[in-house]
Amino acid sequence: MIFFYTRAKSFTWNTQYGPFEQDYVDSNYRYVEEGTGRRYRLGDLTAAKPGGDVDYEWHGARPYKGRHWAYSRANMDLMLGAGRIIFRSTGMPVYKRYLDEQPGVPLQDIWTDIRLHSGSKERLGYPTQKPVALLERIISASSNPDDVVMDPFCGCGTAVDAAQRLGRRWIGMDISYLSVDLIETRMLDAYGAVIAGTFELVGAPRR
Ligand SMILES: C[S@@+](CC[C@H](N)C(=O)[O-])C[C@H]1O[C@@H](n2cnc3c(N)ncnc32)[C@H](O)[C@@H]1O
Repeated sequence: MIFFYTRAKSFTWNTQYGPFEQDYVDSNYRYVEEGTGRRYRLGDLTAAKPGGDVDYEWHGARPYKGRHWAYSRANMDLMLGAGRIIFRSTGMPVYKRYLDEQPGVPLQDIWTDIRLHSGSKERLGYPTQKPVALLERIISASSNPDDVVMDPFCGCGTAVDAAQRLGRRWIGMDISYLSVDLIETRMLDAYGAVIAGTFELVGAPRR
């Protein structure tokens, strides 16, 4: 179980996304672009409410039944130039929405996709080690680059490693010298010269 606490009413929360289900992809992103293999779907370019320069004829087409274009003529021209608009056989333009540009499905509060397998290369032999992907998700959701992440019981330093990888500053604390030794080695092995000399070891526990 992971608890999420905040000190004040304003806090950082960055929604995290997971991959779409294959069924959803198959039924919604049915087209595959020739040459690139990119999957896409077709999106409406009309809107119900007018706003700005949205009532015009464009390449012989006009929105029907009281609808309007969703974009200005200038933006439609830009999108066409960028290859993002194609024309249906009726002449109606539609937007090409690529699957690989979508963030995915917002994650809910049950996560079943992250595991640390017994044979994983990530394993360091620390008995309570957590998967780095799990800490990356938690840190990405609840902080921004350059924020400070503190793990006061940091064990083999999974949170510290994830924080470093994600461009956060970090503080790791642990009562065990085994943990502190292991984290130093882990960080130097992973980041080498980039990290050497950039962190400080304060009050290391002794045997
Ligand atoms: C559950 S483990 C943390 C595992 C960590 N998340 C990881 O991925 O390796 C808890 C850690 O808390 C440390 N610990 C226990 N009592 C402590 C204390 N009073 N102060 C600091 N660390 C402590 C233990 O040495 C242990 O490494």
